Amino acid sequence: MFTRLLNGIRSLAMSSTIKPDVVFVLGAPGAGKGTQCTNIVKEFGFIHLSAGDLLREERNKEGSEYGELIEDNIKHGRIVPVEITCSLIEKAMKKSGSSKFLIDGFPRNQDNLDGWNRQMAANVNLLFVLFFDCPQEVCVSRCLERGAAGSGRSDDNPESLKKRFDTYMNDSVPIIQYYEQQNLVKKVDAGGTPDEVFEAVKAIFQNISPSR
Ligand code: C5P
Ligand code: MG
Repeated sequence: MFTRLLNGIRSLAMSSTIKPDVVFVLGAPGAGKGTQCTNIVKEFGFIHLSAGDLLREERNKEGSEYGELIEDNIKHGRIVPVEITCSLIEKAMKKSGSSKFLIDGFPRNQDNLDGWNRQMAANVNLLFVLFFDCPQEVCVSRCLERGAAGSGRSDDNPESLKKRFDTYMNDSVPIIQYYEQQNLVKKVDAGGTPDEVFEAVKAIFQNISPSR
């Protein structure tokens, strides 16, 4: 009886110490989330999981049952149902074996947030939400430049961009506000050059104390 109790306590303690650290990275399309995540990975050893990249990868998989649904949503700047996105994130986290993740472009709407809270929130340690705050004109011109430079993305064109911005304003901004109310948002002015923005990002990451 006593041994069983002790084992129970031990496994509870273990499961709480192995919770991975998570930083959500949010901001408008073209705010520089991906660019800065690459920098953070190099300097601070996080694993970068971009929800958009994971969805594009799944869409491109031969025989994927969700390929068409994902592409239809991406082209129209709409958000894919969370069951798909959250499962891709969970799978990628497990596969990496790491304990520090940047989850970029997620949660993007209420459905994303609810699904995460149902499926994942209790199993991770959310450090904070990194929010790249960038004027819309700057974001639009960055995405159009990216498209012109051959990003190959089906949504880096003026028509899709307009829809992506509508989705951002209507669906994603309220999620950032939700985390702001919980004092979890660290905001970075993202209108400058990548190096300028990274200086501000570095200051944030140098000051965090990971959970282990
Ligand atoms: O973040 P990124 O710009 O790469 O996202 C591209 C598209 O992927 C979004 O416009 C949306 O259609 C889809 N996406 C999604 N759910 C997320 C992140 C991205 O449906 N959480
Ligand atoms: Mg991105």
